[in-house]
Amino acid sequence: MPLSIDLSGRVALVTGASGELGRVIARTLARCGADIAIHYHGNRERAEAVARDVEANGRRSVLVQADVANAADVDRMSKSIRDSLGAPDIVVANAVAQIHPWSSVLEEDVSDYESQFRSCVLQCVHLSKAFVPAMISRGRGRFIGINTECAMQMTPGQSAYVSGKRGMDGVLRVLAREVGEHQITVNQVAPGWTISEKDRREGTERNAGYEAGVPMRRRGTDQEVANTVAFLASDLASFITGAFVPVCGGHVMPTI
Ligand SMILES: NC(=O)c1ccc[n+]([C@@H]2O[C@H](COP(=O)([O-])OP(=O)(O)OC[C@H]3O[C@@H](n4cnc5c(N)ncnc54)[C@H](OP(=O)(O)O)[C@@H]3O)[C@@H](O)[C@H]2O)c1
Repeated sequence: MPLSIDLSGRVALVTGASGELGRVIARTLARCGADIAIHYHGNRERAEAVARDVEANGRRSVLVQADVANAADVDRMSKSIRDSLGAPDIVVANAVAQIHPWSSVLEEDVSDYESQFRSCVLQCVHLSKAFVPAMISRGRGRFIGINTECAMQMTPGQSAYVSGKRGMDGVLRVLAREVGEHQITVNQVAPGWTISEKDRREGTERNAGYEAGVPMRRRGTDQEVANTVAFLASDLASFITGAFVPVCGGHVMPTI
């Protein structure tokens, strides 16, 4: 029988599922058979569109609103998911508070470092506390953080974003060691600058300057990121934990 990614009977939470990458991750996990908790922050309309796609695949969904940096919000979200779909087997920490514009260390507002700490580091802490205990009881689980190639590039102007994502990396690799004995894997997917629906709508898929630095000479797609998440969420990735998987056409290559 051909190998396939089968998430039938699994429940997945995708944070930031109203966003560019999150919505494709949510749809893809649903196509693999999972029921989906669709998290959004402000954009309920986008989240509802994702719910329609999930349900068109014959899967169940629930919409959950939360500030993922707020413990009480995450607890409320956790209760709502448990009451509707059941405790998640798969948690994808994808939401991020965006900073506009990026500035140098000397010019970046201190509140931007705080926002990145909250949305990258504290999100993972709150999601772990809310969802990992049920995974431990069940003796299986998947926690997948969406990181970024930027965390390895140290590009001027990105210090707040990079500091948040590097902090997230620290939390998740320690978590991987702490919960591995329960057959829970904790991994990260690190996209490059990715083509999403917004680029397709606005015709901004190509960027010669960026592409020139990518060994594969193109930008990756939202679907390529989502495919990697689906693999890590599946039984096919049962012995991979603590990994940081770049999906960026070789733009960065972490050394071993
Ligand atoms: N796009 C890329 O090229 C790229 C490259 C590398 C890494 N990444 C990573 O991929 C992930 C998704 O990025 P994206 O480009 O898809 O971002 P996006 O389109 O800006 O979506 C961000 C998502 O996070 C939610 N969000 C924002 N602030 C929040 C808060 N305080 N609490 C809860 N949710 C909040 C938003 O909710 P609402 O819209 O409902 O308010 C939205 O769903 C991020 O972790 C990002 O760092 C993206």
